Amino acid sequence: MPSNFVAKGAQAYEASMGRWSQRLAAPFLSFSGVPPRGRVLDAGCGTGSLTLALAAHPQLEAIEALDFEQSFVEALRSRTTDARIRVRQGDVCALPYEDRMFDGAYSLLVLHFVSDADRAVREMRRVLRPGAIGAAAVWSHDGMPSWRLFWKTVLALEPEAAGNGVPSGRRPLTAAGELREVFERVGFTGVTETMLTITMDYANFDDFWRPKVYGQGTFAAFFDALPQARRDRLCGGLRAAYLSGSQDDGPRGFASLAWAVRGTNDA
Ligand SMILES: C[S@@+](CC[C@H](N)C(=O)[O-])C[C@H]1O[C@@H](n2cnc3c(N)ncnc32)[C@H](O)[C@@H]1O
Repeated sequence: MPSNFVAKGAQAYEASMGRWSQRLAAPFLSFSGVPPRGRVLDAGCGTGSLTLALAAHPQLEAIEALDFEQSFVEALRSRTTDARIRVRQGDVCALPYEDRMFDGAYSLLVLHFVSDADRAVREMRRVLRPGAIGAAAVWSHDGMPSWRLFWKTVLALEPEAAGNGVPSGRRPLTAAGELREVFERVGFTGVTETMLTITMDYANFDDFWRPKVYGQGTFAAFFDALPQARRDRLCGGLRAAYLSGSQDDGPRGFASLAWAVRGTNDA
């Protein structure tokens, strides 16, 4: 299995993550750089946050987007009429492209889900022309305060949720230097790492908690199967955590961090 990502459908993805990857896409591209012309790759495009940010660069002639999840491929196709964009289903560990055909290759919030990230980054480098940039970003494990607040509260009230959709432990590559080491190991040169910051803004408590229990994911199934009294208790605990001592339900913003790396293919 080349992926540890559990897809819950395109709509659920947009509510729980796509809205944040849209925010991350522009600073990620500012850091990575976009070539002055040519063809670029979005490896692990999901529902297209980065693909559409790339499409905002009129100098690009072709944008290839690839994802393992067919429902995301279809969702992205339905979101754009840009003739430069081509979306296909595939595996980032076995890219269906010829050597040296891209002027830039990007991967946003994907590599911490890929079973063999070295292989995926080696594939990104293989398809790049000499001198072209490859870049990737993943969330920082310690840099997701709203998610940590949510999962810690769930585990405190429902310990059985461990292994039922609540992430256990730290995902690979989510600590300082880990993504950079992969890029260096597979032969990228001039590898640079930075930390990107976005704010995850929630309109109110509902906006904070509903996306996590929406859809067909493992945690949603766990939550749905709880007796009503335990669901109410969990909801009450999460509300208290979100309000954090205030009586006012309303907007909250959580600064959230991602590690980003870029390197050049000098081969
Ligand atoms: C958190 S999402 C990020 C999607 C998109 N890049 C974004 O920023 O919104 C992770 C994506 O990686 C894709 N993915 C995971 N492993 C993959 C693999 N081996 N090949 C292709 N796509 C993969 C998943 O299907 C999912 O769409």
